Amino acid sequence: MKLGFIGTGTLTAAIVTGLKSVADDPVSVVLSPRNEEIASNLASRYPNVHVAADNQAVLDVCDTVMLAVRPQIAHQVLPELRFRRGHHVISLIATLSREEIIGLTAPATRVTKALPMPMVAHRLGATIIYPPDPDVTALLGGLGKVIEVENSQEFDALSVATATYAAYFKYLDTIHHWLKAHGVPDTKGRDYIAALFKGLGHAPETAPDADFAHLAQDYATRGGINEQVLNELTAHNVFEALAESLDGVHRRISAAGAT
Ligand SMILES: NC(=O)c1ccc[n+]([C@@H]2O[C@H](COP(=O)([O-])OP(=O)(O)OC[C@H]3O[C@@H](n4cnc5c(N)ncnc54)[C@H](OP(=O)(O)O)[C@@H]3O)[C@@H](O)[C@H]2O)c1
Repeated sequence: MKLGFIGTGTLTAAIVTGLKSVADDPVSVVLSPRNEEIASNLASRYPNVHVAADNQAVLDVCDTVMLAVRPQIAHQVLPELRFRRGHHVISLIATLSREEIIGLTAPATRVTKALPMPMVAHRLGATIIYPPDPDVTALLGGLGKVIEVENSQEFDALSVATATYAAYFKYLDTIHHWLKAHGVPDTKGRDYIAALFKGLGHAPETAPDADFAHLAQDYATRGGINEQVLNELTAHNVFEALAESLDGVHRRISAAGAT
């Protein structure tokens, strides 16, 4: 398979790195030349990754093309390109709807939206795709979990979950700062927190029948210190505030007509 990319930035680098870390990787990659440094770096690291002369040259030699430019410039870049009816377009542009992409890449009609995250470089995390497409699932399934989505509302709602990463790290940072303020050396505290939360990340997989509320209960021994923190944060409306933030992101995504 020959896979083209229009836009060679953070996400493209992550996808290519993930694809190239698979043994017996069958994908040959053609990159658009911007960003020059990222494109040439990827091409020098992997034998079957090449940089095309320009965006059109990517389309001319590839049947499957991932769109990975920022939304702000998509309206300027895509209308200048000649797509073919037979192109399979996989748009990674988070805030442009599938209908918009179909309009910008006509006469191509096979258009899939995918939302991979940079951790695909390490073949971790999950990618949502809409509408379900077996080829996209096969391609991105090697880079982590694929969640196929049947309608745009579900895609938008799932996208909201990806807005919580920074707050998650702020949560860990708060614990880290507290440990430092109580005499724990920086690296020791960081290592401890990283290992604890890596372990917690496995809990839903090891107890597949338990929902998150039950996991919270399981970890909150009655009268114990986990129950104390959970109760105190609940009393401070921390989780209500989180739910309100999710509503706000959802309104923003829905207003942009993302999917
Ligand atoms: N990063 C994420 O976590 C993430 C997750 C999901 C979806 N996405 C979506 O993925 C898309 C790319 O995100 P990103 O984080 O990879 O952005 P990025 O790092 O800014 O990459 C975009 C690349 O497009 C290049 N570019 C600019 N003008 C171009 C043109 N005329 N033709 C071709 N390429 C051009 C830029 O090159 P220069 O550096 O030379 O300007 C830049 O390297 C966005 O639409 C975003 O919504 C990102």
